[in-house]
Amino acid sequence: MSQVFKFSIFRFDPDEGKKPRFDNFDVPFKAGMTILDALFHIQGHIDTSLAFRFSCRAGVCGSCAMHIDGKYKLACETQASIALNKRVTIRPIAHLPIIRDLVVDMKPFWDQYKRIIPYLMPGDVAPEGRERYQTTSERQKLDHVIDCILCASCHSSCPMTASDPEYIGPAALLKANRFVVDSRDQSTAQRLQMVGDEHGVWRCHTVFNCSLACPKDLDPAGSIANLKREATKNFLKKPSTR
Ligand code: SF4
Ligand code: FES
Repeated sequence: MSQVFKFSIFRFDPDEGKKPRFDNFDVPFKAGMTILDALFHIQGHIDTSLAFRFSCRAGVCGSCAMHIDGKYKLACETQASIALNKRVTIRPIAHLPIIRDLVVDMKPFWDQYKRIIPYLMPGDVAPEGRERYQTTSERQKLDHVIDCILCASCHSSCPMTASDPEYIGPAALLKANRFVVDSRDQSTAQRLQMVGDEHGVWRCHTVFNCSLACPKDLDPAGSIANLKREATKNFLKKPSTR
């Protein structure tokens, strides 16, 4: 018998008024096939109603993050071969409302992201005709933290985003830290005040799920730890009112 990839895929359409279910699909073996390719095969040849999200197909846009075989992964970067000798379960990322099947509503994620003002605030006009220079060591502080593709895997793995919908969350906090460590940004105090509120860094219980979940091997937990240190220093700098 020819080999097949075996999947069990979460299905749900809130408009149907039916309970969520899992459907089994067998996809003919093809060398080098990714999970995203397998989903295309299912949609094109077996069940045209299967909904999933993708864009770049190259591990860059973050759209295809899913819970695959017990871990958060990018479907376009995961080989379907993991489903050769066992049936692999695929679910949507968690802690976000489901629109249909593997597609979630990212609005709550983007709402938190907007809160941290996710762009450089240099505070002055750039010197005419010149870039804002950084030393090598200043630039090195941005290594890794600028590689976030906003896939929301960390957000979905975090127990705190599940219990506090207002929690800023690991992805947005990693981005806030990206600007706090950037020598060109002049709004550190404002950002630290923002991330130090009741739904900010102090909500993090240092579970480390976010760093384990990140498909780009980033360390949101490390960024949150740095923000806690800097927020404490910022607080201690303020004159006492007692
Ligand atoms: S930190 Fe990692 S897991 Fe979180 S959004 Fe960025 S790339 Fe995805
Ligand atoms: S489709 Fe863009 S990261 Fe997978």
